[in-house]
Parts: sequence; structure tokens; C-alpha cells
Amino acid sequence: MEKNVTLKDYLSTKKVDKDLTELITLLSSLVIPIREEFPHRLGDAGTKNIYGEDQKALDVWVNDLLTQKMLDSGLVKSVISEELPDQVFSEKGGKFNVVMDPLDGSSNVKSNNLFGTIIGIYKAKDKPGLGIKQIAAFYKLYGPNTTLVMSVGDGVQEFIRARKNVNEFILLKEGVTFPEPKIYGVGGNPDKWVPEFDLFVKLLRSKGLKLRYGGSFVGDFNQILHHGGFFGYPATLDKPKGKLRLVFEGNPMAYIAEQAGGSSSVGSKNLLDIDPINIDSRVPVYIGNKELIVSLEDIFKAARDAREYY
Ligand code: AHG
Ligand code: MN
Ligand code: MN
Repeated sequence: MEKNVTLKDYLSTKKVDKDLTELITLLSSLVIPIREEFPHRLGDAGTKNIYGEDQKALDVWVNDLLTQKMLDSGLVKSVISEELPDQVFSEKGGKFNVVMDPLDGSSNVKSNNLFGTIIGIYKAKDKPGLGIKQIAAFYKLYGPNTTLVMSVGDGVQEFIRARKNVNEFILLKEGVTFPEPKIYGVGGNPDKWVPEFDLFVKLLRSKGLKLRYGGSFVGDFNQILHHGGFFGYPATLDKPKGKLRLVFEGNPMAYIAEQAGGSSSVGSKNLLDIDPINIDSRVPVYIGNKELIVSLEDIFKAARDAREYY
């Protein structure tokens, strides 16, 4: 493909649905105004989301900007956001339902570490939430560079905002796949991990994988996608459902992981097959190279069998 292919050109060349191309282009074209806002929204919003988490000023600002742009676009029937109490519907209607974590890793804002935006896209006729029904997913990563990693069901592509003062992403790499496993990132308090997860992490270490954990799912996922390995925010003895939200965080990333030749699990089955009991369901998230997820599920199954035996 020739140089300086924009995200919009790429999607058009691949004959992706015109409205889907327009939606992804719309959501990616806000990158300059969003980044310019960062220094001015470093604190708390003074409000809480439905999870009882203190909202950061940037959570609310990015949420409101993206939600309004989508509802006004005529492309989106409804938006479900981590930062909104309920599904919001557009008066103009649209072909897609969108789920989003407008700012993932918001606790990293004050320490200037990685954070990003996670988007999952469904057809308007499908109830949003069941991961296998997603038709596209992408995340934007705000780091030294601003990158966008996407799948519309035809593998994974990475884009970068490259041209000075131009509000667009340029194709960096097509056919992104997990390389041989090198690193792992694991959240939560290790003293409270379920024992089978502890066993699995010891296996990773025995394979020579090195620990890298950055405190944002989007940043930690991106590094295992580029270096190969595993990320887990596990079930713990006090929080058996883990911390991450299935719909806004787990499923879009599980979709991308699958398209990149990897896999994901809640410990017993693929994240994409979990029917969310409600839109704010939390699940343990295990994701990365396929062979590591297979090993994890084998260890978890052995633990279940042992418990059932006695
Ligand atoms: P969010 O900022 O959208 O609430 O997500 C934060 C999540 C996820 O990004 C990350 O993997 C995890 O919280 C980090 O949790 P800890 O702070 O417990 O490490
Ligand atoms: Mn998040
Ligand atoms: Mn968030």
C-alpha cells in the first residue's frame, strides 16, 4: 500500500461499509482537540459513575464530546458508555450501536502515564453487549505518539497521527499479530489472587516472560500486542468478578485480540461468548497469545475439577 494512507482511504480501499467508515473516521478525527484538552483537565470531576468511581474531569469531557458527536451524526442509534448511567438514543437514529470506555486508565492522567479510548461497534439491529456480535472495535492510545489500533473483521491494522496539525491517522502497519510471548502484565493484589491464577503467573515466569504493568488496560494490552505475551486483571478472593467491565473494556479488546491471532478468556470460556447479565457486568479478563490462554484455561479447569472432586 502506498505511503501516507489515511484511515479513511484505507477503509474505503478495503470497501468497508460507507457509514462504518464515516463513523470510525468521525471518532478518530477528534484527536487534536482531545489531546489539546489534556493539560486543562487533570483533576476530578467531583461526580461518580455508576460504579461508584470518582469521575475524572477528562472522563466526563471526552465522554460528552464523543457521545454528542455520535448522536448528532445520524450514524448511531444508541451509545452505551462507562461514564453514562443508561443507554442514550439518538433522535436521528442510525445503523450502529456503540459501546465505549471514553477514557480508559484515567487514574494515569495525573501521573502522565498511558491512557486511551476503547470503542466497540454493533449493528443497530443487535443488542449491544454480546462480544461475538461486534462488527468492529478500535482503541486510541494517547502516549508519546497517538496511535489507533483497529479491526473491522479483516485482521488488525495500526495507525498513527503523523502529519503536523493534521487531524487524521496514517496507516502504520497492516496484519498486526501477536509476536512470540515476551512480557506479561497482571493487576490486582497478588495476595488475593485466586490460587490457580498464582500458579499460571508462576508458569509465565518459568517461561522467562518479564513483568510490565502500566495501570491502563489499553496501554497494557497494546504492549502485549507489540511484544507478545499476556495481560490479566484476575478474579480475586474478595472480587471473584475481577475489576474490568465486559462490555466497554473486555469485549472490544477481545475482538481485536482474536483478529490478531490471540485469544481471551474469563477463565473458563472466551470473553466474546459471555452474555452480559447487565450492561455494567464485570468479568475477570485474561488476554494475549493463544497458547498462553489455552494454558490458563487448562490450569483453571484442573482447579475446578479438584474442587468438584471433594
Ligand atoms: P478506567 O480508567 O476506565 O476506570 O479503567 C481503569 C482500569 C483499566 O484501565 C486498568 O487495567 C485497571 O483499571 C487498573 O486497575 P488498578 O488501578 O487496580 O491497577
Ligand atoms: Mn477502563
Ligand atoms: Mn474509563
